[in-house]
Amino acid sequence: MQTISTYNFEGKKALIRVDFNVPLNENFEITDDTRMTAAVPTIKKIMKDGGSPIIMSHFGRPKDGPTDKYSMRHLVGHLSDLLGVEVKLAPDCIGAEVQAMAKALKPGEVLMLENLRFYKGEEKGDEGFAEQLAANGDCWVNDAFGTAHRAHASTAVIAKFFPNDKMFGYLIESEVESLDKVVKNPQRPLTAIMGGAKVSTKITIIENLLSKVDNLILGGGMTYTFIKANGGKVGNSICEDDFLETAKNIERIAKEKE
Ligand code: 3PG
Repeated sequence: MQTISTYNFEGKKALIRVDFNVPLNENFEITDDTRMTAAVPTIKKIMKDGGSPIIMSHFGRPKDGPTDKYSMRHLVGHLSDLLGVEVKLAPDCIGAEVQAMAKALKPGEVLMLENLRFYKGEEKGDEGFAEQLAANGDCWVNDAFGTAHRAHASTAVIAKFFPNDKMFGYLIESEVESLDKVVKNPQRPLTAIMGGAKVSTKITIIENLLSKVDNLILGGGMTYTFIKANGGKVGNSICEDDFLETAKNIERIAKEKE
């Protein structure tokens, strides 16, 4: 099977979908670069092979197209420091100018595309948008673990344009391996700890885990939905009122398994 380790990137323009949705402070300084450092091994493997990495990511949740607050320009300097080369920043993520910049890359040079969510087509999973992104590269590497639950243009739909040249990056590969080990052949008792803001995006995973684990610990913002479902007060905390019944149902299933 073709993997990032076996694939030879020599002379290839490699589109890498990463999750660089990192937190910034009010001075636009990165306060936690874990997601960026996690993608470095994949990017470096491509550079070492003599390929040209083309980094694509979403950043925040821009609602009205290009917005400076959500520009990848806030991240490009730090990525350059992490890689030890100057990463070029494209003014957009699709279009003739970007394609020309991608094409002109020499082996080992790195290009970062502008925020994918400046286009509505990204979150909609628009095929035409995915095709335009695909036109920037020769192969597609998915290493956006933090966005793996989203079926967006750059995380899923784009795969069809690279039938023989698509693979996971090292980050996703190792997460999938660990998950596989734990879920298929666990040492018991098995406890899963999950965080996140929304029950709505985790429901399938929670339901799936309930049939596999001995204990499930939920943390993060989604706990407020459970607190409210149990009659508690949540003030202004994040809460999905449409999912109170779902939260109750999850607790009921968990109790039945006790
Ligand atoms: C995250 O931070 O959870 C991921 O980057 C996905 O972002 P999203 O919730 O805005 O899709």
